[in-house]
Amino acid sequence: MNAPIVVDSVTALRTQVRDWRQAGLKVAMVPTMGALHDGHISLVRIALERADRCVVSIFVNPAQFAPTEDLDKYPRQLARDLDRLRDAGAHLAFTPGVNEIYPAGFATKISVGGPSHGLETDFRPSFFDGVATVVAKLFLQAAPDCAVFGEKDYQQLCVVRQLCRDLDLPVEIVGAPTVRDAHGLAMSSRNAYLGEAELDIARKLNVILRRTAAALAAGTDEASATDAAAKALVSAGFRKVDYVAARASITLEPWQRNRDGRLLAAAWLGTTRLIDNVEIPSA
Ligand code: PAF
Repeated sequence: MNAPIVVDSVTALRTQVRDWRQAGLKVAMVPTMGALHDGHISLVRIALERADRCVVSIFVNPAQFAPTEDLDKYPRQLARDLDRLRDAGAHLAFTPGVNEIYPAGFATKISVGGPSHGLETDFRPSFFDGVATVVAKLFLQAAPDCAVFGEKDYQQLCVVRQLCRDLDLPVEIVGAPTVRDAHGLAMSSRNAYLGEAELDIARKLNVILRRTAAALAAGTDEASATDAAAKALVSAGFRKVDYVAARASITLEPWQRNRDGRLLAAAWLGTTRLIDNVEIPSA
């Protein structure tokens, strides 16, 4: 495979994408914060099935980290990421510095309503403003035909869909299934923070969620099922549970039995916060 073109300026990105479009090629984008794992590579593969050219952005977005969060220690490994993108067949890596995205005097924030309410926002109040602002910028910069986001960050996927709908951004949003290890642990760049003993505990998250989703589908009362799940996570070794919640699949409003649903959770293992979600099977 050819190495991807690497550009770090918006001008160079726009020039390349414009040339592809003039040649009649369809362009897909995969926004990432780097530290690429098999989950990201699956997004690149889906992008390549849908388009002729795949742009991957690698930008650790400071606007979506609270001052107390892991911005400084977030894994950064550009050379390795570019190797993985070459092997996956991505065509362009957009690797802007912070000043390219947020030049001096930058003063705009995009705040999406609807699905951004609750769940992550209860614990990370500025997170989706940061995500929506950078995703809108990336879409305006790259002007892709479509963009692929993982269902692992399920609330983010719903927020990005709402963003595009509300702002008439002409980008088709494609949701991609979560990639899991052999034990069902969802791939995440933050798994790199976990030692072996913590990984064993982390692998229980998806088991407990699937069991709880099955209990909900079988008729267990929602509060009892989610309380039991939170207790099971703590017994398994999680330090703290931020939420286990059942929501409507698209709007993320409260779940109604016999409607499409998603069970979402966030829990702490030591100083690492993990999120995951599963479908609630229809009864
Ligand atoms: O999911 C991520 O990696 C980030 O939230 C995203 C979408 C690249 C925006 O910074």
